[in-house]
Amino acid sequence: TNFEGRTAFITGGASGIGLGIAKALSACGARIVIADLRPDHIEKALAGFAGGAQSNSVTAIEVDVTNRETYAEAAQKMQSDFGGVDILINNAGVGVEGPILDARYADWDFGLGVNLGGVVNGLQCFLPQMIAHGRGGHVVNTASLAAAVMMPEQFVIYSAGKAAVLNLSENMREVLAGKNIGMSVLLPAFTKSNIHEAAQNRPAHLRDDSGFAASEKALSEREIGEEWMEPDEVGEMVAKGILNNDLYIITHGQFKNRMRERAEAMLAATPDSDFQF
Ligand code: NAI
Repeated sequence: TNFEGRTAFITGGASGIGLGIAKALSACGARIVIADLRPDHIEKALAGFAGGAQSNSVTAIEVDVTNRETYAEAAQKMQSDFGGVDILINNAGVGVEGPILDARYADWDFGLGVNLGGVVNGLQCFLPQMIAHGRGGHVVNTASLAAAVMMPEQFVIYSAGKAAVLNLSENMREVLAGKNIGMSVLLPAFTKSNIHEAAQNRPAHLRDDSGFAASEKALSEREIGEEWMEPDEVGEMVAKGILNNDLYIITHGQFKNRMRERAEAMLAATPDSDFQF
C-alpha cells in the first residue's frame, strides 16, 4: 500500500526484470503502465495479471523507447490519462553482444540506442511532467553490474551503455532531489528473463549490416541458469530501494572482488595531491 494512488511507467515492463518490478509495485498499490516494444510480451504479461486483485490497475502501451516521437506521445497520454507519472522505471534493454572488432555502426546504434538512448528519452519525455505536477516521485534506471567491472570484449557495447546509465544516475540525483524526485540505479546480474531474445528486438533497419548475427543466434539458444535470480525477487528489491531512496540497488554479490580490483587499480594510478576537489 506504500504506492497507493501512484502511477508507475515501466519500460520493458512486459518481461523479465521489468515485469518483476511491475508485480512488486502493483502489490504495493501502484497503478502500473507497462510500456514495451513487443505485443507478444505485453499480451502474456497482461494475462498474468488477469483475475488478480490488482488487474484493474494494470494497463499496457506499445512503445519503442528509441522512437522519440511515439515516446513523447506516450508521455502525453500519461499526462492526460493519469495526470502524469510518479514512478518512472527506465528498464528496457537489449543483450547486445558480439566480437567487438566485427561490430558495425548498426551494432553500436542498436545497443547504445536502446540501453542508453532509451533511458535518455525516458528522462527527456517524463521529467518535465514529473517536475510540473509537483507531487514528487522517483526514477529507477536499470543499468547492470556489467557497468561496474571490466567485462569480456563481446560486451563492450552493452557495458558502455550501462556504464553511462550508472554515471548519469549518480550525477542527476542531487538536482532531482531538489525537485523532490528520487533516483536509483539498478545493477542486476544473472536474472531469469528473455534477454537472450536480442535479435528479435533488433529493428529491421539495424539488422542487415550487423557483425553480431552469429553471436545473437548463439545467445538465442542460451539456456537460463537454474540458479539465476527470479525477476520477482529483483522487483521486491526495487520496491524497497524506491522506498529507501537508495542510490544503488544491487542484486548480486558475485562481482564484489572485481568491483574492488577496478577501484583499487584506478586509485593506484592516481597521484597524490594536496588539493582535494
Ligand atoms: P527481457 O528481454 O526479459 O525484458 C526486456 C523487455 O524490454 C522485453 O519485454 C523487450 O520486449 C523490451 N524491449 C526491448 N527493446 C525495447 C525497446 N526498444 N522499447 C521498448 N521495450 C523494449 O530482459 P531483462 O533481463 O528483464 O532486461 C531488463 C533490463 O535488465 C535490461 O536493461 C537489461 O540490460 C538489464 N539486465 C538484465 C540482467 C539479467 O541477467 N537478466 C542482468 C543485468 C542487467
